[in-house]
Amino acid sequence: MKEQLNSLRASTIKLVAEIVDPKALNETRTKILGRKGELTAILRGLKDVPIEERSAVGQLANEIKTELETEFDRKETRLREDLERAQLALESIDVTLPGRRTLLGRSHILNRVTQELVEVFSGLGFQLAEGPEVEIDYYNFEALNMPKNHPARDMQDTFYFSENVLLRTHTSPVQIRTMEKRQPPVRVICPGKVYRRDADVTHSPMFMQIEGLWVDKRVSFSDLKGVLTAFTRDYFGEKLGLRFRPSFFPFTEPSAEVDIQCVICGGSGCRTCSFTGWLEILGAGMVDPALYKFVNYDPEIYSGFAFGLGIERVAMLKYGIPDIRLFYENDIRFLSQF
Ligand code: PHE
Repeated sequence: MKEQLNSLRASTIKLVAEIVDPKALNETRTKILGRKGELTAILRGLKDVPIEERSAVGQLANEIKTELETEFDRKETRLREDLERAQLALESIDVTLPGRRTLLGRSHILNRVTQELVEVFSGLGFQLAEGPEVEIDYYNFEALNMPKNHPARDMQDTFYFSENVLLRTHTSPVQIRTMEKRQPPVRVICPGKVYRRDADVTHSPMFMQIEGLWVDKRVSFSDLKGVLTAFTRDYFGEKLGLRFRPSFFPFTEPSAEVDIQCVICGGSGCRTCSFTGWLEILGAGMVDPALYKFVNYDPEIYSGFAFGLGIERVAMLKYGIPDIRLFYENDIRFLSQF
């Protein structure tokens, strides 16, 4: 029986030394020292040991039990410490790793282009004016000489809140709002968002315009040409030509659509300009005297011009951007290029 005990002691010590997992250690402890364990099984044979040896064997059994318990405890502590050390190593900071760069924000390309445009026109004496994006029918259409049922309204279908309240389809209502408040001379530039029922590669249901308005004594079509020529020279450079095509807007007379020579091909013709060499960037004209009725200006004394420039168009031309939707998709890879 002594031999049994000693060999259990030896095999257990060897086993414990090999265990690496706290759960296995616990199971082994139960298997050997538990109530139904191997040590108990051996001790059951104590009654067959001759009486004179019994107490010595019992003492040995107790010693071995204590020794093995200590062995298990010590191993348990070791395993717990190992685990803690491993966790610490995981959480600790490796100071040799390169740092993570914080991304710097920047203004959206359209806001930047708007700012640049406002700057160019400020240099030509234009002041900043603004109007609401939620507009009433009167300013968006009626006072711009587009009464209800006017066919020109068809091209500017929009989002209606009620019969008379809508998202403005252009920045032209700011013309009326400004003239209502002030007597000439008026020379303003009005940037902002506008809305139309429209969506493809060059049209978005929300886009941006910048409106220009100059009303004073003896403002003529040549002033319009002069201002727009100065603007294109300043913004796109000396070389690009400017072309005025006769057009129609209910609020200007005469009216023109203005093209600049294609920045992509320099005028020789390419896909972007549909092989015409020209790209349309704005609508313009002399303010129709009919508008002066609405704002109490004397058409015998005053005259003026107005223009409406598409900001996305300008940005697409300036930076060679092929699709208007890129502006609104918020893809950092696109936006961070500017
Ligand atoms: N408001 C017109 C449009 O959105 C552009 C325009 C503005 C034309 C001013 C003439 C004068 O199409």
